[in-house]
Amino acid sequence: MSILVTGGAGYIGSHTVLELQNAGYDVVVADNLSNSSRTSLERVRDITGKEITFYEADILDRDALRNIFAKEKITACIHFAGLKSVGESVAKPLEYYQNNIAGTLVLVDEMKRQGIKNIIFSSSATIYGDPAFVPITEECPKGICTNPYGWTKSMLEQILIDMQTADPEWNVIILRYFNPVGAHESGMIGEDPNGLPNNLMPFISQVAVGKLPELSVFGDDYDTPDGTGVRDYIHVVDLADGHVKALKKVSENVGLKIYNLGTGTGYSVLEMVKNFESVTGVKVPYAIKARRPGDIAACYANADKAKAELSWEAKFGIKEMCADAWNWQSKNPNGYGS
Ligand code: NAD
Ligand code: UFG
Repeated sequence: MSILVTGGAGYIGSHTVLELQNAGYDVVVADNLSNSSRTSLERVRDITGKEITFYEADILDRDALRNIFAKEKITACIHFAGLKSVGESVAKPLEYYQNNIAGTLVLVDEMKRQGIKNIIFSSSATIYGDPAFVPITEECPKGICTNPYGWTKSMLEQILIDMQTADPEWNVIILRYFNPVGAHESGMIGEDPNGLPNNLMPFISQVAVGKLPELSVFGDDYDTPDGTGVRDYIHVVDLADGHVKALKKVSENVGLKIYNLGTGTGYSVLEMVKNFESVTGVKVPYAIKARRPGDIAACYANADKAKAELSWEAKFGIKEMCADAWNWQSKNPNGYGS
């Protein structure tokens, strides 16, 4: 009996594969390596000492999925595979809708044919748009997304909800991640963005390691305590653990469940810089720039539901997030290419 992890070679996927193996699960990964490399999984194997069955496969490829389902005894799927760059999605909307939405439709259709009706889906706090209130509970209404990537998540949530409503044999857990950061404490796996990082933490790390000259802080005139954007950063290992907890739940015939995975605490951009500097002892030069289009002032979770129903809560704080991000970046200045 194995768990299929789509996108398992990626940032969150590789950390989740590691935690799944530590929890005793057999793992099968399907990834087309469009935004990752095999090295991540080789390193997971080196950490856990356990083999991972890997298929270089695209979730849009029915035959490839059928081959996996024919060869492996899959009981549930954790579905990470997808394109995730906000800016790229604005430039290439059709690619994003095709890959993320059509890919998921093919995946769930093939799962259904096999009678495998347990799925955990990677959603995002982005579906709340500019949130109606903070801290954000799962009851907060979904909002207007500012980019096609966000819409793929919002639409896929609806598709999975409709699927589960039509066929209650499905167990669907939707996990809405806040801002994943950090890396495994070994420093052997971590986030390896292509080109210039879009997200704050990898940008800070690359400035610190000397690959980039300074951080641009996008706006200091938001309605927040210091004027810079506030987000709920969550350690990727905590996030991975949330999937292990969700997997236990999905096998209890839960029907449909939606959980926020965040810490419940928001930090501003400048607080992130200060914490990173104090934890690592490395200076991060920055300059205040104009707001980034589509950004919101503040976004942080109320994560009480995951605590009550999954017995999950974030264990790591801002210090561990910064220390582990730096440990990974300084040991692997060029990511998996180093
Ligand atoms: P990632 O890019 O590191 O991992 C995604 C993986 O999916 C990659 O390994 C990529 O090669 C693979 N992939 C993409 N399209 C595929 C396809 N058609 N077939 C097979 N494999 C495919 O991204 P991540 O940060 O690990 O994110 C994982 C999931 O979580 C994504 O769905 C993402 O949208 C979602 N998410 C991420 C964040 C974040 O800030 N990192 C926040 C919220 C939600
Ligand atoms: N920021 C900067 N400079 C940078 C990068 C970011 O000042 O170089 C600021 C942003 O303006 C924002 C904060 O840092 O205030 C966090 O920005 P990120 O890009 O790291 O994260 P976002 O909250 O904008 O978006 C992320 C993912 C989305 C996901 C969302 C919610 O990129 O895909 O979290 O999960 F949808």
